[in-house]
Amino acid sequence: MFQLSNITKQYVDGSGVRRVLDCLSLNVDDGDFVAITGESGSGKTTLLSVIGTLIPADSGTYVLGDTEIKDSSEQLSSVRNKMIGMVFQDYRLLPQFTAIQNILLPLLANEESVSQDAVRRAEELMDFVGISSLKDKSVECLSGGEKTRVAICRALINKPLLLLADEPTGQLDEANARLVAKLFKKINTELHTTIVMVTHSAEMAGVADKCYRLVNGQLQES
Ligand SMILES: Nc1ncnc2c1ncn2[C@@H]1O[C@H](COP(=O)(O)OP(=O)(O)O)[C@@H](O)[C@H]1O
Ligand SMILES: [Mg+2]
Repeated sequence: MFQLSNITKQYVDGSGVRRVLDCLSLNVDDGDFVAITGESGSGKTTLLSVIGTLIPADSGTYVLGDTEIKDSSEQLSSVRNKMIGMVFQDYRLLPQFTAIQNILLPLLANEESVSQDAVRRAEELMDFVGISSLKDKSVECLSGGEKTRVAICRALINKPLLLLADEPTGQLDEANARLVAKLFKKINTELHTTIVMVTHSAEMAGVADKCYRLVNGQLQES
């Protein structure tokens, strides 16, 4: 699916230079379900942002599918749209829109209106994650678990090969976190989507097939 080799990423700000990813390498195969854990501030979100082509690495190589990712915004957004779905820590849903409108939003980036097929696909996804009854509800009045599911449907609307999730259960209670963990497993096995998930939860990490810990800018198998 993708290969990161000797990836380095550092931030420079008022307090100096901080090397967050330091010669990091990672190989993820088609169909893998990978969990990444690590202390707060260890660079998990940075790593996911590099994989998601949201930020470029400073050095190293990143090959996604058969494309080497270079720092050109045109290539990045087209690769991202075609191949990658992302679930963010803070959902990033638009509060003034309904659940289904949020799910269809990525399609409006390329087209002015959405097709009936797309609406049907959004409805199927809502059914798949168990939120059909929330279709026309404003996302503002949804619970954390429900918002997570809407964000998951939005991430899947373009049929991505790779789903990235940043602490998708970070804001949920234990019972809801367990349900969402099961849902990611179902996405992996039934939709055959490759998943890389950052998590604090041992339970979430437990549903993945491979688990790595980010320490000192590198991944250790755990
Ligand atoms: N845009 C940025 N500019 C400067 N420092 C940053 C930026 N983003 C993250 N950092 C710093 O890089 C480190 C890793 O951040 P992050 O990847 O968010 O870690 P995690 O997700 O594991 O908590 C932290 O020390 C954070 O403060
Ligand atoms: Mg983070």
